[in-house]
Amino acid sequence: MAANPILEAIKSRRAVRSFEDKPVPESAIKTMLEAATWAPTAINMQPWKFTLITSKAEMNGLSDLAKPALLRALPDVGDESIMGLKQRLTNPKYNVFYGAPLLVFVSGAKSPFAVNDCTMAAQNMMLAGCSLGVGSCWIGSGVVVANDPKIKAELGVPDDHEVYAAVIFGYPKGGMPKAPQKRAPVILKRID
Ligand SMILES: Cc1cc2nc3c(=O)[nH]c(=O)nc-3n(C[C@H](O)[C@H](O)[C@H](O)COP(=O)(O)O)c2cc1C
Repeated sequence: MAANPILEAIKSRRAVRSFEDKPVPESAIKTMLEAATWAPTAINMQPWKFTLITSKAEMNGLSDLAKPALLRALPDVGDESIMGLKQRLTNPKYNVFYGAPLLVFVSGAKSPFAVNDCTMAAQNMMLAGCSLGVGSCWIGSGVVVANDPKIKAELGVPDDHEVYAAVIFGYPKGGMPKAPQKRAPVILKRID
């Protein structure tokens, strides 16, 4: 069967959490941002706006705010993944952005659809990055503090907008991580 570049891109993207000490080139950033704007969008609103951060000091500050906020938000008992995350969050060396060279927040004017539009825009950025050899990881932990009014102002996000996604980018250190096992799709019902 002929190679299918779209399926290959979808399957080769991995959550990357370790990066080369090398900036993401402006040309790659431009390509990823353009890819974001080709995402589907309800009633063609195209609500996505982007905040780009390459400053390590800024990322460290946001990480330091996110860690206690997340610890407070997570339950004291839970499954292994939650308990593992809680343990990482108490480690002073753990940075929720993993020292990535680039952090992008995607925000949009609040609407019932903006979360979907902005999420798909962020996914397009990740896939476009992957096609250029740029690794990425969605950082849910990064959004926890981003909607605080003071932080929003710092990120240039208007009051009537909400931050929906935080994604880190950079060149993977030591190659792409191994894919976790993917479960088969669960079809609840099929009505023909
Ligand atoms: C909504 C969402 C939030 C996530 N938040 C984090 C996060 O805060 N920190 C992190 O290291 N990875 C985070 N991830 C990445 C997932 O852990 C990763 O996608 C998952 O383990 C599957 O691995 P894969 O992307 O390589 O297939 C998040 C992914 C999603 C979709």
